[in-house]
Amino acid sequence: MLSPSDFIPKNYSKTVENGSFQWSAPSNIALVKYWGKKEHQIPANPSISFTLKNCKTITNLSFSKIEKTDNFSFDLLFEGKPKEAFRPKIQKFLERVEVYLPFLKDYHFTIDTQNTFPHSSGIASSASGMAALAVNFMSLEKELNPEMTKDYFNQKASFLARLGSGSACRSIKGEVVIWGNHQQTENSSDLFGIEFSELHPNFKNYQDTILLVDKGEKQVSSTLGHDLMNGHPYAEKRFEQAHHNLSEIKSILTKGDVVEFVKLVESEALTLHSMMMTSMPYFILMKPNTLEIINKIWRFRQETAIQVCFTLDAGANVHVLYPANVCEEVLQFIKNELVVHCQNEQYICDEIGKGAQLIMDN
Ligand code: DP6
Repeated sequence: MLSPSDFIPKNYSKTVENGSFQWSAPSNIALVKYWGKKEHQIPANPSISFTLKNCKTITNLSFSKIEKTDNFSFDLLFEGKPKEAFRPKIQKFLERVEVYLPFLKDYHFTIDTQNTFPHSSGIASSASGMAALAVNFMSLEKELNPEMTKDYFNQKASFLARLGSGSACRSIKGEVVIWGNHQQTENSSDLFGIEFSELHPNFKNYQDTILLVDKGEKQVSSTLGHDLMNGHPYAEKRFEQAHHNLSEIKSILTKGDVVEFVKLVESEALTLHSMMMTSMPYFILMKPNTLEIINKIWRFRQETAIQVCFTLDAGANVHVLYPANVCEEVLQFIKNELVVHCQNEQYICDEIGKGAQLIMDN
């Protein structure tokens, strides 16, 4: 089993003066949710997610060699314009990963980021953002150590992304990714995500239409949310349930059982929200429109037998999940009945994607 020290490089065989990379990394949507963590970004329970295709962050990392300094030297841009608001988060990330990327203080970096999804859509950009940054830094490390294998690259990118935001480690590689120690999953790790590669064709190109119910700032930051699981009266049972649900969903995804998929995924979403409602302090992160949408999805499913279901993040937006072969019917239903419950009638069409992609290497 790998430990964090396995990601500390011994020495580099090359030096590099300057250059730039550009990577895109997607967001992901959890099916079994990560909710609760220990020190050093170790999850309290294992989780699994679909990687998305269209909702992504594109990050350009330029670097030039400088005299080693005591501080990190970096400029931050968002869509080409200076964005100082990101500095504390990036500074903290660099501090956490420095021991694993010992070259960080040898360079001045310019980090220029853009998202493909609309501003303040309520879609968390931390997973895609941290994943995009991690793969960029791994590209630089690969320049310094050209013998690096692809597997090591991806594993370490996921390891680094996790230190930025837990769920980001599930946005590096693969359509479906498991993160967290799980007895029934070979090679599973608390340190990085691993690809689940036994996806039944029924789940190929699975669709995720994201209904933007509330585009405002998150009411509860995920850091505070995870904290609420410390001392939560139902925490231990919840963590046990997540282990069990992960075993179940792996078998569902392997067999292609879309009916059981619906039950498990909706139950996980509601459990996540129940945890927030029963913590101290307590929160209701759904909005009346979230419930309207859920009820309409249930009615539609009952009337048509089309296996469409919902899942939720720690917010009011609804992810509508359904097989690719019923796309037309479900989109029609969404347009006719659900869009009225979205802010400014906004929604985003997405589907399962493959992970981070290198766009440019100079
Ligand atoms: C509800 O990964 O955003 O989306 O590790 O504090 O950055 P940090 O938390 P984050 O938590 C995501 C929680 C979730 C469920 C999930 O994605 O598994």
